[in-house]
Amino acid sequence: MDATPHREKTAAKNRVAKLTSLLPARMRERLDPYLETLELLSEIRSPQVLLSLGPPGVRGLLFKRGKQGVPTQITAHHKAHFDWGYPEDHPEMHDLFVRAKQGQWDGDSLPWHISVDPENPEVPLLPRDFLAMDLLKEWGYALSRKEEQLMIHSVVSWMLSQFLHGEQGALFAAAQVTEAVQFFDGKLYGSTQVMDEGRHVEVFSRYLDGKLGKLYHINDNLFVIIDALMSDGRWDMKFLGMQIMVEGLALGAFGTLYRLTKEPLLRELLRMVILDEARHVHYGVLALREHITTQLSERERQEREDWAFEVALLMRNRFMAYEVYDEWFAGRMPRAVWRTFINQSPSMREFRHVMFNRLMPNLREIGLLSARIRPRYEQAGLLRYSEGVAAPELTAQQMLRDLDTPLVVRPKSA
Ligand SMILES: [Fe+2]
Ligand SMILES: [Fe+2]
Repeated sequence: MDATPHREKTAAKNRVAKLTSLLPARMRERLDPYLETLELLSEIRSPQVLLSLGPPGVRGLLFKRGKQGVPTQITAHHKAHFDWGYPEDHPEMHDLFVRAKQGQWDGDSLPWHISVDPENPEVPLLPRDFLAMDLLKEWGYALSRKEEQLMIHSVVSWMLSQFLHGEQGALFAAAQVTEAVQFFDGKLYGSTQVMDEGRHVEVFSRYLDGKLGKLYHINDNLFVIIDALMSDGRWDMKFLGMQIMVEGLALGAFGTLYRLTKEPLLRELLRMVILDEARHVHYGVLALREHITTQLSERERQEREDWAFEVALLMRNRFMAYEVYDEWFAGRMPRAVWRTFINQSPSMREFRHVMFNRLMPNLREIGLLSARIRPRYEQAGLLRYSEGVAAPELTAQQMLRDLDTPLVVRPKSA
């Protein structure tokens, strides 16, 4: 692999960093989000991937379309695929359809009577060391115990708000994919996923509104991914984006929260959602494995491989909870310090570990982890997750059992 462009980009990045260090602190802070966007887009090597992620990147990161407090309209370009012969064309998908019908549950049946007090130290939403609170103290931003609890309340509300926004994206993507996919058994299965995602929107929204009393705007990077897959007309890109990447991200985040929270209603809610999401990823792997390995040219396969890599990096590096930073530290802590704080928080390592443990074997399984891309994943520290069990061989119960056993996360950041 030619390292020259990478070296040139690093040198350019250093030059920009040197230049901006000469600016007054306030101006530097104002420029930081724009420089981050520029850095993100300049890191994308493939022109096709830049074409696909560039416009959503500008809409989400620069124009902040998800934060304007008004409904967002995203134009979709996919084709609805009708089949008047109603073929029984995919037994494994049919099997998933049967299991999904049997696995339906009612959001009202969760124990909503449990009262949730985010400030009760006896039943913490998350443990104090979810965030590296001691680092804040070391750096001169010490919080009182009460403030620490309130900040944990903010962080949990932020995470659940992002789940909720992701679920809205999943609901619409599931509906689009149900129209566009060529497998008839896939369409029947898809109808159950639309119901599942609707239920997820219902329960997360109810928990946030009724129990936590807080709702955060959509994170700009999540907006970019949702915008990219909603506006892409190719059904397999929607599938790859939603069923593999975003669902992988969701399983990582749900799993981390499920493992750490002591709040019984939230734990039960997450357990039920994880059971559904495991089916969704399974379906994504079935449909894409066949499509990528039998229908696509090598050039088209490579484009998907590059796209998945860039989105994986976006998910690894970019969920910095700036919406919580704006609430707590804007104007008195540089954004760069916040990034270090988030990156060094133990929860972030755990989240990445759970997420990539699920995601990488699935990318391998659908044919998007060829020898061509492996060195880039290796360089990003992610290849070590690739040998795990892929979704079709993993039952939801096994997934929950994994989450209930103590986790050993290697100290090296993922
Ligand atoms: Fe969902
Ligand atoms: Fe889902």
